[in-house]
Amino acid sequence: MSDVFPVNGMDAVVFAVGNARQAAHYYSTAFGMRLIAYRGPENGSKDEAAYVLRSGSATFELRGSIRPGTELARHVAEHGDGVIDLAIEVPDVEAAYAYAVAQGAEGLVEPYTAEDEHGKVVLAAVATYGQTRHTLVDRSNYGGPYLPGYAPAEPLVAPPGTRNGRLFQAVDHCVGNVELGKMDEWVEFYRKVMGFTNMAEFIGDDIATEYSALMSKVVADGSRKVKFPLNEPAVSRKKSQIDEYLEFYGGPGVQHIALATNDILATVDHMRAAGVRFLDTPDSYYDDPELRERIGRVRAPIEELKKRGILVDRDEDGYLLQIFTQPVQDRPTVFFELIERHGSLGFGKGNFKALFEAIEREQERRGNL
Ligand SMILES: [Fe+2]
Repeated sequence: MSDVFPVNGMDAVVFAVGNARQAAHYYSTAFGMRLIAYRGPENGSKDEAAYVLRSGSATFELRGSIRPGTELARHVAEHGDGVIDLAIEVPDVEAAYAYAVAQGAEGLVEPYTAEDEHGKVVLAAVATYGQTRHTLVDRSNYGGPYLPGYAPAEPLVAPPGTRNGRLFQAVDHCVGNVELGKMDEWVEFYRKVMGFTNMAEFIGDDIATEYSALMSKVVADGSRKVKFPLNEPAVSRKKSQIDEYLEFYGGPGVQHIALATNDILATVDHMRAAGVRFLDTPDSYYDDPELRERIGRVRAPIEELKKRGILVDRDEDGYLLQIFTQPVQDRPTVFFELIERHGSLGFGKGNFKALFEAIEREQERRGNL
């Protein structure tokens, strides 16, 4: 099978934030991430500070402007804290970039090589929905902590007291919100530009209007290492959570990042104790005989899931446990998901009804319903 756009996996999720120093503290304490690299005025970065944190294979870069008038400062002023780049590791940046641009992607940065004493990295970037981009990275000849220009940094706090000293080990999927009627265009974009294919799971009219107020399709690379669900609002009785996002973010953008964990119970306990707030799940989700039947047998007692509000979804391949945080900034935009997979390759479609009810309650509290 020839892959027109081979990828190695997610490289980094890059956030633009108003105060990168404090954000680095939040992701260290609440998400158990380890600071590994830094770039700022002390080492030649005149306009911004950037903190790079890691947990397993997941890398977050938090970038903040240190002066007014920069592109980064304008981005944060307009969109608030959010994701500006879903960087993808590829074996051949020049080939990937050439293919993407030939297929109609907007090239933002032509391939170039960055170098320091740790080796070489090849980088390029193409545009995707809204102000979001995909940087393409080949770091196979690089041994430094992140990228040339970044100095190694020490963790800010001690690691969480979990078995592996971390709360999650990988980015599972990254979800984008696009405008009404644009979902299929972006599905087609990923098909054409990156050779991604549709995964089976989608939320169509049937579920959309009644429960979720969104339509959703999932695209992924051939190896299923990079998975991008795409949402658009659906017309329903109430204001869609996607419309709320589009209004407050000021256009399309990344809605949530799902983090893969091996022990969702311990991870939720740690994050909650550190002040992270999760969406509530109604008790009826666990007590209702029909829903309980659907949950079936899972690795933890249902009472333990109920105590934490952890959701269960099931398909022919297995099951998954998942939970969603509330938005992690003042704007009701970006949030996170924790996901523990046991065979299932899905994204929690069966939880939409229960989730929708929970999200609606939060929207109502904000007066946006
Ligand atoms: Fe998700």
